[in-house]
Amino acid sequence: MNMETNVSDTNLRCTQSTEIRRRNRIILFPLPFQGHINPMLQLANILHTQGFKITIIHTEYNSPNHSNYPHFAFKSISDRFFEIESQLATKVDADPAYFVKYLNRSCVEPFRECLGGLLAEYGEGSIACLITDAVFCFTQAVADSVKLPRMVIRTSSPACILAWGALPFSSQNGYFNLTKQDSNYEESVPEYPIMKFKDVSKMTTNPESMRNLVTDMLSHMKASSGLIWNTFKELEEPALETIRQEFSVPNFALGPFHKYFSASSSSLIEQDRTVLSWLDTQAPKSVIYISFGSIAHISESEFQEVAHGLANTGFPFLWVVRPGVVPGSKWVESLPEKFLERVGDRGRIVKWAPQQDVLAHLATGCFWSHCGWNSTLESICEGVPMICSPSFGDQPLNARYVSDVWKIGVLLEDGFDRVGIQMVLQRVMVDKEGEEMRERIISLKEKVNLSLDEGGSSQKSLKGLVDYILSF
Ligand code: UDX
Repeated sequence: MNMETNVSDTNLRCTQSTEIRRRNRIILFPLPFQGHINPMLQLANILHTQGFKITIIHTEYNSPNHSNYPHFAFKSISDRFFEIESQLATKVDADPAYFVKYLNRSCVEPFRECLGGLLAEYGEGSIACLITDAVFCFTQAVADSVKLPRMVIRTSSPACILAWGALPFSSQNGYFNLTKQDSNYEESVPEYPIMKFKDVSKMTTNPESMRNLVTDMLSHMKASSGLIWNTFKELEEPALETIRQEFSVPNFALGPFHKYFSASSSSLIEQDRTVLSWLDTQAPKSVIYISFGSIAHISESEFQEVAHGLANTGFPFLWVVRPGVVPGSKWVESLPEKFLERVGDRGRIVKWAPQQDVLAHLATGCFWSHCGWNSTLESICEGVPMICSPSFGDQPLNARYVSDVWKIGVLLEDGFDRVGIQMVLQRVMVDKEGEEMRERIISLKEKVNLSLDEGGSSQKSLKGLVDYILSF
């Protein structure tokens, strides 16, 4: 059943009484990571332009910059991060889901208190709903206890939810710890054949913990009042259709969120905007942009292979080296000797870039990415072909879609090796194959634009979502 059609039923619009229209405030609660904060604040902006008042509850850890959003109200809650800060790296090494699980415990009482305070402050009848990140599972019970509808934003792709729902997470079954020596390493996974066993082996170092998190998240998504996706119908129609069948709650795919506005201002790290004038001096489609997002790490030897790969080709490049991307490093001290002399003005290295502007710049020729979902969408929106070096979580699946399904990029199948890197850069930047990828991603970019036009799929979904919220 197509729930979008249901909720935008004209009956709903006609029966909005003054009482219902009074419920014009939405409370949003993002997970405090860059890849989750960005889409949540973009969604908040979209809903604000639809006439809703916005309150953001956020943790103290990675607090968004309030001054970038004078039109929102903010409430900060204690996350007790200080209790685990000193042991966080060790805990996350053993269990990548550790911090998310910790927040799901430490935030319960502060969140409950904060929400209660907001209900008292605004008046119960004025809050339409709560929208939280899908992994904040505890918020469902809190919302239920105060009879507030809770909607969920899942910041990864719908396909990722289907794949995670299908995979048998266990360290016993040989799915999660395969190496190149295993005979089925290159084979497709029966439960989700777009993925290979080699992709699954990258997803997590602790499958049992991930199973618990995924099971919890799926059941709380199903118990919610509706799901909001940062994607667009034309990109992921089969996955969205399956979700509509399997999740009996309304679904709204109204992305890509960032395209509703000019570049986002929710960056937690200062973006080095001087790169834009450097890009102005480069030839069209000549520059390789490299960034592995806000969380992924690479080893020192992988970092050096990236550097050698870039130095050995003649392409200009803009490389985001996030401090700490190589664990234990301060910044670029692991670069190979004489690297900077070798590359000279051909290369720029920065700590953080205005990524959306970089991708939109005419000089950018390809994006070498970890394939976080935001980065993948941002590349599609600007028609920039990709080189994929996924690290963990949803990234290996996103990379498979980029390389094997949409065919808009190349996956560095054998990891970071300077010779492999040079070959892949040549394929994407110079060869006919790369030109064909560019044509395909430009055609997806055109579909994005159509979906956001009046009457397009994302615009229709947005109207459906607004009507649905007004019906609460
Ligand atoms: C994380 C997960 O890794 C990702 O797989 C999941 O889908 C969302 O959460 P992250 O690793 O940060 O996110 O990657 P991504 O989803 O690509 O988000 C990164 C965001 O930071 C993007 O919006 C990007 O524009 C921004 N960014 C990145 C910058 O503003 N500057 C940079 O230099 C790099």
